[in-house]
Amino acid sequence: MSPPVESGVLHGSKVDDIAQLAARGLCAVILAGGDRSTWLDDLADMVVAERLVIPRTTLPSVTPDDFMAWACTVLAGTPTAVAGPLLDDMTEILTQVVDQERARRVMVRVFTEAPTRRCGFHVDTVPPQAPTIGAVRVYNGPTTQYVASDDVLGMADFYAYLSRRERLSRETVRPGHAETALTELLAMDENPSFLRPGAAIHHVPPNATVYFRHIDVRRHWSPHPVSDAWIHRSPMSGKPRLVLNVSPALAAPGHPGRR
Ligand SMILES: [Fe+2]
Repeated sequence: MSPPVESGVLHGSKVDDIAQLAARGLCAVILAGGDRSTWLDDLADMVVAERLVIPRTTLPSVTPDDFMAWACTVLAGTPTAVAGPLLDDMTEILTQVVDQERARRVMVRVFTEAPTRRCGFHVDTVPPQAPTIGAVRVYNGPTTQYVASDDVLGMADFYAYLSRRERLSRETVRPGHAETALTELLAMDENPSFLRPGAAIHHVPPNATVYFRHIDVRRHWSPHPVSDAWIHRSPMSGKPRLVLNVSPALAAPGHPGRR
């Protein structure tokens, strides 16, 4: 039986399902992680108690081996029963992103941090002509939220929303403007104007990895098809979480890439 598809998002259970992202109309494959293991519970305890802290880090262009070397150093003080499976899990995600589109090198963003209201619904971008499939994994706490492609009125509506929200987000730290801006921001988050009335906001299941379409940065803000990118947001509050973002860093072989 084929895995279920929910308006542009496929719910898969095996790595072979990621390849279905190449199918027309799909913007994400959510890969279930199976039964929750003890190491994930131990990891969650450590992150929430801030016994494991990874400051927000961007590795602009790494191979899975480069990342493994970096992560081994960062996790040197973490018990092996947690660090071992975590290293394997994160490196496997990098490898899948590299394998999907022969990306060769990826950009990795990783951190332990409590969610904030800074970013709302958005799409992630890649450099010009880079492959577009990346991944996000949230190891503990509230998961990523997303909307079904069919529920989006259109990208012009979405980018108008995003532009206004980004401006308001900046206003919330300006003295004298914070309170008004925050009130409007809350209303925008509660009722996103780019969605059909009554549309649901979906949540990625716990212990899942999402492989999803990014948009070439040159097409960001353009009225491209909704299913060309996955519209998602982080939760707005909660305890610290460990989050891993992976996206292709360079053009695929045969493409001239960035100059
Ligand atoms: Fe994102």
